[in-house]
Amino acid sequence: MAADNTGNGKDFVTLVDHSTGNSHDLPLMGGTTGPKVIDVRKLYAETGHFTYDPGFTSTGSCESEITYIDGDAGILLHRGYRIEDLAEHCSFLEVCYLLLRGELPKPDEKREFEQTITYHTMVHEQLMNFYRGFRRDAHPMAIMVGVVGALSSFYHDSTDINDPHQRMIASHRLIAKMPTIASMAYKYSVGQPFIYPRNDLSYAEDFLHMTFSVPPEEYKISPTVARAMDRIFILHADHEQNASTSTVRIAGSSGANPFACIAAGISCLWGPAHGGANEAVLNMLNEIGHKDNIPKFLAKAKDKEDPFRLMGFGHRVYKNVDPRAKVLKKSADEVLAELGVDDPLLELAQELERIAREDEYFIERKLFPNVDFYSGIILKAIGFPTSMFTVLFALARTVGWVAQWNEMITDPSQRIGRPRQLYTGHTERSYVPIDQR
Ligand code: CMC
Repeated sequence: MAADNTGNGKDFVTLVDHSTGNSHDLPLMGGTTGPKVIDVRKLYAETGHFTYDPGFTSTGSCESEITYIDGDAGILLHRGYRIEDLAEHCSFLEVCYLLLRGELPKPDEKREFEQTITYHTMVHEQLMNFYRGFRRDAHPMAIMVGVVGALSSFYHDSTDINDPHQRMIASHRLIAKMPTIASMAYKYSVGQPFIYPRNDLSYAEDFLHMTFSVPPEEYKISPTVARAMDRIFILHADHEQNASTSTVRIAGSSGANPFACIAAGISCLWGPAHGGANEAVLNMLNEIGHKDNIPKFLAKAKDKEDPFRLMGFGHRVYKNVDPRAKVLKKSADEVLAELGVDDPLLELAQELERIAREDEYFIERKLFPNVDFYSGIILKAIGFPTSMFTVLFALARTVGWVAQWNEMITDPSQRIGRPRQLYTGHTERSYVPIDQR
């Protein structure tokens, strides 16, 4: 394969098929930043070959203007803004506005957006009955998949994907109702009454209120905790074409309604290699138990015969520290200090990070802590059970899914997602009657 990037108008790579001697020029496409991509859309029509890329390690699935990651440099940008700046200076709803609309809101736009989201936070009363069908010990992510998928049966008036107004209403509903739905999943599991949202509270405050209030007494919301919660939401808001976002896009590419698409995203997020990792990190730290046991667990992580992996470490795109992990590490110190929590797991996590980052195996493979490594420690300090960690990820990621889904629907080059395969099964053979098999 030869690239011609001489700037003389011939921006393409040449693919030579040595079995036939044929060559094909494939156009190179450039974005505003990041590596160029080879446009293989006509590859099959022109060569009779498909590309083969399990796990899509070398495949761009769409054009997008929303999020950019430079994995080598450890940079994450939303609409051009650094995640560190957004986490420091913005509220989660400002970031939602940015992801959905492309720009940070002006003061009146911010007010109006906050008002819109606030006034969509209640869920249909009938939805409460839906919860009661679940076992009390159901994992809250199982409840999330069911309830979010069921929203399409409650909100028919925002399921026409070809109507921009309905798409907008569905987007607002999803972002607004997710904290209510998530807190209800928690309340149901602990046998407490559901708590209605309050319009005088911020998005993060309201979620804390609905999760931790009980009717007999008011839950005092610590501003540090509310800020940490808001920051966790910001840090999880979007992450370009990750597994769950790609799932949402593929589900949406068939024309499925937005609630069904987001339920598909939640299902994908649940896995321990993706959003389930924050829960897995805490379980792992508890299992390690003491810093003396770290070498034993590192050896397990390095052993190819052992399925154990160091949870919260490594990333498909980041080959440097995940910038979100840096913000979270700092936040963990602040929250634990404010709450007066002396969690030995924080010390254990820091020691594990230190030892892993000095280990040849992790250095060679560029495995650094990712967003999930410290988030669980903060969430635990706030009072969330581990089973809720991935639910919080889903809550925060909803805006990213919704923004990417909207972008996909309005992309003129959008077609149903339909990958091909390398078939390795039987070739055609004759049917054998049952008594002759
Ligand atoms: N512990 C031990 N070895 C690891 C780890 C780990 N956490 N992550 C990757 N490796 C090794 C892997 O065995 C492979 O080694 P070798 O080259 O000798 O075969 C090499 O590093 C490359 O790994 P990979 O599996 O090819 O990388 P991937 O891009 O397919 O997987 C990942 C990325 C995030 C699934 C993986 O690093 C992992 O399983 N990490 C632990 C789970 C985790 O923390 N997930 C959260 C990701 S961030 C939040 C999110 O996106 O949801």
